[in-house]
Amino acid sequence: MPQSNNLKKLWGGRFSGSTDSLMEAFSASVNFDWRLYRQDIRGSLAHARMLTAVGVLSEEEMHQIDNGLRQIESEIDAGDFQWSSALEDVHMNIEAALTERIGEAGKKLHTGRSRNDQVATDMRLYLREGVDDVCDVLTRLQRALIELAEQHAEDIMPGFTHMQSAQPVTLGHHLLAWNQMLQRDYERFKDCRKRINISPLGCAALAGTSYPIDRTMTAEALGFDSVATNSLDAVADRDFVIEFNAHAALLAVHLSRIAEELVLWSSGNFDFVDLGDGFCTGSSIMPQKKNPDVAELIRGKAGRVNGNLMALLMLMKGQPFTYNRDNQEDKEPMFDTLDTCLISLEVLAAMFPQVRFKTNVMHKEAADGYATATDLADYLVRKGLAFRDAHEVVGKVVGMAILDKVSLDQIPLSQFQHHCDAIESDVYEVLTVEGSVKARNHIGGTAPEQVKIAVQDAKSLLASRS
Ligand code: ARG
Repeated sequence: MPQSNNLKKLWGGRFSGSTDSLMEAFSASVNFDWRLYRQDIRGSLAHARMLTAVGVLSEEEMHQIDNGLRQIESEIDAGDFQWSSALEDVHMNIEAALTERIGEAGKKLHTGRSRNDQVATDMRLYLREGVDDVCDVLTRLQRALIELAEQHAEDIMPGFTHMQSAQPVTLGHHLLAWNQMLQRDYERFKDCRKRINISPLGCAALAGTSYPIDRTMTAEALGFDSVATNSLDAVADRDFVIEFNAHAALLAVHLSRIAEELVLWSSGNFDFVDLGDGFCTGSSIMPQKKNPDVAELIRGKAGRVNGNLMALLMLMKGQPFTYNRDNQEDKEPMFDTLDTCLISLEVLAAMFPQVRFKTNVMHKEAADGYATATDLADYLVRKGLAFRDAHEVVGKVVGMAILDKVSLDQIPLSQFQHHCDAIESDVYEVLTVEGSVKARNHIGGTAPEQVKIAVQDAKSLLASRS
């Protein structure tokens, strides 16, 4: 925890009274924004080098700043740095420490910049790395799902609508549906990275600076693609945080849908899946239980990530231009969203290879649930009935089968013919779940052949990622 003491405020010149301790505690952000220290130091180094190149700092001053900042960074890395909440935030803690170490040159570092462009720069650098990390783990999770889809391209399970068994599908097809959501998430994150990777450095407090700065030089040094072209927007803008969090919110919703299915499928009532001992817990009172905690926690975490999005949107709503201190509130939601997404993705990517799908149970459920009723209707259409009439006939057949407690393929031909004389002995081929999935052999269909093609397509998408 940062220590508060009576350090001199870096902005204290026009003040005669001292800061109320309540104010100090209320306004300090260093207990969370210390996480930006690496980005802050990188930004300062780039700024100092640029100031030297344009003749504002001497080589000697630059050298001292460079050494001082690197020393501070190692101390922070090692956990030896003394943070102070009296110095408010990460920026002033580092700057004060620099001046304490190297004297005059330290005081010159802030020439031609403000904490307003500094914090925006730090956040963009931090989030750029964060988005790259999210994309990496997302790729790992997708790879795990695609591998499973390949293994289960031919395995049959019931597909659901309204949580009722609807039509047979292949498990591989279902797993690829999950992957499809994640593929879109990946593309969204990659897209928002473009708008994150723009340099606000040099826009200073709001209007730019009167020093002959070279913004392109700092942008290039920091790996930004371009410089922000309006200084007011550059310090006032937090769209990049909101956009990231919006994509994260949707990702979290997607993960919660996957998690919810795992919760259902692992319950004794479904018994479709064994989640692996490493990712479940037992009950302290009910010895028979194996609880799907990972899936439940992931489902729950969608709430906080979506809450963070709302917090950020409301933070920016109605804010007058340009920078306002409100913006200090952007960091905790950003860090929390990033942490939550990363750990959720990590844990799912590690869990999936240990998940065992009980394909026999799935197959049996698909076969028992009148899931081939649509295939029977399609069969009747092929025999010349209009689809609506076919639907009516099959409805009656299913109603009878439910009363008799038999599956469709157990109904004798004579009974079928009692309902419709177009039904012949070849009907039994379409009543199998294998026949049903195999028939759906078109782009996007559930046939094993299509799943195998889709697996290859998904693999090449992953392979094309840099
Ligand atoms: N800690 C502040 C923040 O996170 C840094 C910027 C402060 N700027 C200012 N004009 N007071 O937003």
